[in-house]
Amino acid sequence: MLLNAADPALQADPFPLYRRLREEAPVIELDDGTWLVTRHADVSALLRNRSISSAQVGGNPGAPVAELEVNGRNLMIASDPPVHTRRRGAVAPQFTVHPVHALRPAIEAHVEHRLDEVAARLAAGGVVDLVPTFCARIPMDTLCSLLGLPLDDESRLRRWTTDLIDGIDPWAGLDAAARAGAALAEVCPYLERFLDERRVDPTDDLLSALATSPDLTPDEQLHNAVLFLNAGLDTSGDLVANALGLLLDTPGAWDTLVADPERVAPMAVEEAARFDSPVQVSMRRTIGPVEVGGTVIPEGRGLLLGLGAANRDPEVFTDADRFEVERDDRRHVAFGGGAHLCLGAPVARLEVSTSLRAMAERFPGLTLAGPSTWRPRLAFRGRASLLVTAEG
Ligand code: HEM
Repeated sequence: MLLNAADPALQADPFPLYRRLREEAPVIELDDGTWLVTRHADVSALLRNRSISSAQVGGNPGAPVAELEVNGRNLMIASDPPVHTRRRGAVAPQFTVHPVHALRPAIEAHVEHRLDEVAARLAAGGVVDLVPTFCARIPMDTLCSLLGLPLDDESRLRRWTTDLIDGIDPWAGLDAAARAGAALAEVCPYLERFLDERRVDPTDDLLSALATSPDLTPDEQLHNAVLFLNAGLDTSGDLVANALGLLLDTPGAWDTLVADPERVAPMAVEEAARFDSPVQVSMRRTIGPVEVGGTVIPEGRGLLLGLGAANRDPEVFTDADRFEVERDDRRHVAFGGGAHLCLGAPVARLEVSTSLRAMAERFPGLTLAGPSTWRPRLAFRGRASLLVTAEG
């Protein structure tokens, strides 16, 4: 099957295609030889299947970009046990309840600060695009606090990570891969300087945990620092924007949040992650023939696990194509599953729910001021713009 990932109509609404595939061809070979899987049962099983590999699928396969190859060889997300277990284990303690809880005051302060800026613009009587003013800012603020990087460097960090994320899209062209390589050549020495400082004078931040881990090689310390920037930025920003867009666009949903932000915000995060999943596909590779729902996928093939498609599967979710703010069903696979289950999910949940709660408390009269546009990607799903205005 030919899947045109560059088609803007498909990027804006891939769900009719996903429905057809789930019903008629749930395990299908694409023109480029990769296989796409769309049913929840199959995707969930493959996420936990140890006989398929994550190794070296983190970069654009086939792109001869040396920096990307070195990066891919060192990442936890692009490795299998036991290497994966060692790399993940080295930093996993930073993502347990206590350290994530300790981030809360910093995240709340960032959110309030960014909302002050939104308030000033709304007070000026205008229409505000929440994506650049708010949704994309919170994850950068959060990651700088988590890693221990200066927020003053926001604009170059954003430039590097944008190029990097473009380059690791499974449908990235060679140009995008080359730009990602160039970004790596700049961001690596930048991070190396901070890692060197932390080796001498560690603090309680994530860069210190990486820099002082006896279980990681210096290359692994560096490249997994890059991974945190890639993995935590657009994903979380897209979820803030998607959640706000859905809440404002679905009759009654915003009022439900405004009536009880503390209770409803965490549920809205889960439902938005299910409904408009920021990561639509996860990549794997077969290292032997694999049988999926009666179809045998040969050895050595790229596998695209359709997280976004699985999250709309009516076999699991009643009225799957309806956004129900209080659905509260965590069987979605928006954060993946199995050994590579998103390590940053507790941080993402905290920053997005804090954002929704604070937005509802400060701007109960928020309304949409026009239709949203979508970012030009199929693998990652996020609103490119979210125009709002405030009543009262
Ligand atoms: C809404 C926001 C986010 C979404 C939807 C998301 C989604 C995902 C998904 C689907 C995976 C699994 C990939 C795979 O199976 O190949 C993953 C892995 C990962 N995520 Fe996230 N993520 C988010 C935020 C974050 C944040 C904020 C961080 C860091 C602070 C982070 C760090 C990671 C890391 C390190 C991995 C690799 C885990 C491993 O290989 O064991 N993510 N994420």
